[in-house]
Amino acid sequence: MRVFGKEDRTTCRFIKGAVLLAWLLAGLLVPARAADLTNEGEGIVQSTCVGCHRIHGAPMPRSTKQAPDLIWAGNKYQRDWLVAWLQNPKEKLYPVGYDFKFKRKGRHLALLPGEAEKVADFLSTLKDVRITEGRMKPGTSAELTRGEQLYREHVCQNCHWTPADNRRGYTGGTSSTSFVNMGNRLQADWVYRFNVNPDDFVPGSGAYIPKPSLPEKDIYAITAYMMTFK
Ligand code: HEC
Ligand code: HEC
Repeated sequence: MRVFGKEDRTTCRFIKGAVLLAWLLAGLLVPARAADLTNEGEGIVQSTCVGCHRIHGAPMPRSTKQAPDLIWAGNKYQRDWLVAWLQNPKEKLYPVGYDFKFKRKGRHLALLPGEAEKVADFLSTLKDVRITEGRMKPGTSAELTRGEQLYREHVCQNCHWTPADNRRGYTGGTSSTSFVNMGNRLQADWVYRFNVNPDDFVPGSGAYIPKPSLPEKDIYAITAYMMTFK
């Protein structure tokens, strides 16, 4: 039988010390790595994107901007969609062009996969305190039926491309954002808050949403219905 001697205790203390040190270093390095990626993403956004997009500031109407605001990007986009779209921005989001020039200019710039991840990391930090995360759940069938009825009553499709069972796969007017693929593109909690008062995000976009606003449960239902657009 071995007696646990002084030497073993020293080794033991040494090992414990080494484990503690490794643990401390790992603790320091892991967040540092994540912070590095966010910083790199911020660098790309500052050098490449802010010429067109705003990442800070108060809401402004579309007519006064060159590109949609990314101020609340961390609450607005679903990360997978964002990373994919930034690499291959083919999907038409504003059918007539953001500046209403029908003859579309060149395509949106595309990022490399690594860049798209870093940019998405940074954009995910742009949160908006007005949005309650976790409010929206997938709609029940009663909510979805009510939501569809409200969507049609308030003719949302007059300005927004809306998925439809026809040859093109969508129907509706072109003057605003396409809602095709909305359920993969946007975060439900952001859409809910936008629908509560659109002018809080894009002044002038809420003119056709009834005033006073719909009751909370109707906004919930219309949002739940919109999130089924895939
Ligand atoms: C030359 C101006 C310009 C630059 C530079 C630019 N964008 Fe855009 N971006 C636009 C326009 C215009 C749109 C509207 C959609 C379209 O026309 O394709 C858009 C759309 C977007 C969207 C979708 C927004 C929405 O809510 O519909 C995202 C996300 C985006 N850009 C991110 C970026 C990022 C990240 C960069 C930098 C790597 C960048 N953009 C650089 C002009 C620009
Ligand atoms: C008269 C045209 C019009 C109608 C009708 C309309 N909207 Fe909009 N909507 C806009 C405009 C303008 C914007 C701001 C984006 C932009 O600049 O095009 C917008 C943006 C949105 C957005 C944000 C989309 C994004 O990707 O940023 C949501 C959500 C939305 N509307 C919901 C609705 C709902 C729900 C209805 C029906 C109750 C509706 N809209 C009816 C004009 C309209």
